[in-house]
Amino acid sequence: MKLPRQFFQPLAIGAPSPLRELPVRLERMIHFVPPHMEKMRAKVPELAKQVDVVLGNLEDAIPVEAKEAARQGFIDMGKSVDFGPTGLWTRINALNSPWALDDVIEIVGAIGNKLDVIMLPKVDGPWDIHYLDQLLAQLEARHKIGKPILIHAILETAQGVNNVEAIASASPRMHGMSLGPADLAASRAMKTTRVGGGHPEYKVLADAAGDAPRASYQQDLWHYTVGRMVDACAAAGIKPFYGPFGDFSDPAACETQFRNAFLMGCLGAWSLHPSQIAIAKIVYSPDPGEVAFAKKIVAAMPDGAGAVMIDGKMQDDATWKQAKVLIDLAKLVAAKDPDMAAEYAL
Ligand code: GLV
Ligand code: MG
Repeated sequence: MKLPRQFFQPLAIGAPSPLRELPVRLERMIHFVPPHMEKMRAKVPELAKQVDVVLGNLEDAIPVEAKEAARQGFIDMGKSVDFGPTGLWTRINALNSPWALDDVIEIVGAIGNKLDVIMLPKVDGPWDIHYLDQLLAQLEARHKIGKPILIHAILETAQGVNNVEAIASASPRMHGMSLGPADLAASRAMKTTRVGGGHPEYKVLADAAGDAPRASYQQDLWHYTVGRMVDACAAAGIKPFYGPFGDFSDPAACETQFRNAFLMGCLGAWSLHPSQIAIAKIVYSPDPGEVAFAKKIVAAMPDGAGAVMIDGKMQDDATWKQAKVLIDLAKLVAAKDPDMAAEYAL
């Protein structure tokens, strides 16, 4: 195990010092762009004003024959667009693929100073993070990159779930983690054909009562993994995210899946289709009614000490802390969105 004093040392001479605190940024939706398509790249300057994060996808969904074009398209996009406060991320190919090494070397060399986060797919354990950590430090030193490029892992293999705590705390470069339900379903040999969301056959059945029809209730296939991911991330001081929702024809199910993850502690989700941007914005900006109640709690017990009753509900140190989470997030949203600032009365 690396000892605490070494943990925050740069891994290469001349690389920037690792961050002790993550940058405070709103990341409600990580919007996926296929950078090999010129038509999609042309939309990025406008898109960057609407989303919190633009991600150039190089991995799955990019055809094998377009892998190099996607990498080059992402570099062009990174050079030519002013992203302002919007995050610029890329999802590189898996470390065992023929493209990952050049993805990292070429992108960091060309736009390392603009790139905020590398999303790393199919992370099995801390060894994957250590490899990329070291490589990034060498490249940051070579190209005189001023701030460390962060790593975001996708939790999408059974082995990754087994090692989720070790992955979360593998490096000070860790930004966070997203659930990858499609690959995880495949890795686990789940009997589904979906990208996230529920399944009508995953349910509990009410007890039989004579001949009356028996109610059934669909359960959340992802509850267990999201719970493990949120705890691992919160304990390590990094950020958990829900990943993709593949059925673009079902916005209600997408919203429900995003909201379950939000309520459990996630801070955002991926938007794979423009229609999912608005869904993520609604879900991952706290509800104005909840924020108003949180403000009541803080007003009634400014230092969080003791206990008070508000609208018949007991409040104490623990609800005060929950209220602070909602108010801090609302402030972050309000700083970016004047309409939401008015709704929150902040
Ligand atoms: C995302 O990459 C997934 O596999 O769900
Ligand atoms: Mg995947």
